[in-house]
Amino acid sequence: MKAIICTRYGTPDVLQLAKVPTLLPKENEILVRIIATSVNSGDVRVRSLDVQGFMKIIMRLVLGITKPRKAILGNVFAGVVETVGNRVSTFNVGDKVFGMTGLKFGTYAEYITVSPKSNVIAMPDNATFQEAAAIVFGGQTAIYFLEKAKIVEKANPKILIIGATGSVGTSAIQIARQYKAVITAVCSTEGEQLVRKLGVDKIVLYDKQDFTKQSEKFDIVFDAVGKFNKKQCEPLLNKNGIFKTVSSVYASETVQQLYLLKALFEKGELKAVIDKTFQMDEIVAAHRYVESGRKKGNVVLKISE
Ligand SMILES: NC(=O)c1ccc[n+]([C@@H]2O[C@H](COP(=O)([O-])OP(=O)(O)OC[C@H]3O[C@@H](n4cnc5c(N)ncnc54)[C@H](OP(=O)(O)O)[C@@H]3O)[C@@H](O)[C@H]2O)c1
Repeated sequence: MKAIICTRYGTPDVLQLAKVPTLLPKENEILVRIIATSVNSGDVRVRSLDVQGFMKIIMRLVLGITKPRKAILGNVFAGVVETVGNRVSTFNVGDKVFGMTGLKFGTYAEYITVSPKSNVIAMPDNATFQEAAAIVFGGQTAIYFLEKAKIVEKANPKILIIGATGSVGTSAIQIARQYKAVITAVCSTEGEQLVRKLGVDKIVLYDKQDFTKQSEKFDIVFDAVGKFNKKQCEPLLNKNGIFKTVSSVYASETVQQLYLLKALFEKGELKAVIDKTFQMDEIVAAHRYVESGRKKGNVVLKISE
C-alpha cells in the first residue's frame, strides 16, 4: 500500500511517499481503507520534535529515541471498512467510519487496522470523508479542555477563546455554543470573517489590541493556541473563573467525544472548517503550511477518491 513515512525527525522534507507492506487485520480488528486524513499541529510537532528542554527527552522516550518508532504518522482517519476480523460483530464491510488513532499513528496511509473498541465510530450521515477527517483533531481537543473548564456546569458562561481560528479554536467556538456560551474570540484581522461566521458575540483582534488589557471578565478563558500563561490571563477571570490552555496536558481522546462530534455535525451545529486540501504526494507542502502556524481551521490530506 502507499504510505507516507517519516524516517527521522526533522524538516518537512523527511516525509516520503513510499510503498509499504499491506496490513492484515487480526481476528478482533477491522481494516479501514482510508479516504481522508488531516495534517495537524500535533503531526508537525512529532515530525519536527519541536519541543523545549525536558519535554524533548519525554517525547523521544514516548515516540522513539532517534526517529519516530511508528514511521507512518497521522492519527485521524475517515474511510470505509474493507475487511472485518472473525471476532468482530460491531462493524460490517462497507461501513463508513471515522476516528482517531492517537499515539498509534498510522493514518498517512491507504489502510489502517484498528480495534473496533478503539476511537472509531460510524461517520456522520451527512459528512463527506474530508469533512469527517477535519472535525476530529480540534473537536476532540476542544471538548476535552472545555469539559475540564467545567463548561457543562455553567449557565450561559462567558468565555474568551484565544487562538480562535485554529483547529482547536474553531472547534471550541462551536462546542461552546452548545452550552449557550457568550463567546469572545481573540484572532488576527485575517481571521475576523471566519470567527464572525462561526457565530461569536465579540471579537478582539490581537494585531490591533492587547486582549489581556481589556476590562471585561470571563467565567472561562481558554487559550486554544497555547501561547499564553495563567499569570497573563488571570486578570481576565471572574471570581471562580477557570483558565485552561492546550499547552498544559495531553488531551485524552474518547469515543464519547466522537459521538458528540457526530451528533452535532448531523444536526448542522458543527461545521468542518477546511482551509486547504492536499494530495498524498504534496505532504511536504502540507506540513510546511501547517508548520507556519497560520492555517485557519484544518488541513485535509486526501488519500484516495
Ligand atoms: N494538549 C493537547 O493535547 C493538544 C491537542 C491539540 C493541539 N494542541 C496544541 O494546541 C495548539 C493549537 O493547535 P491547533 O491545531 O489549533 O493549531 P493551528 O490550527 O495550527 O493554529 C493556527 C491558528 O492560530 C492562530 N494564532 C497564531 N498565533 C496566535 C496568537 N498569538 N493569538 C491568537 N491566534 C493566534 C493563527 O491565526 P493567525 O495566523 O490569523 O494569527 C491560526 O489560525 C498547538 O500548540 C498544539 O500543539 C494541544
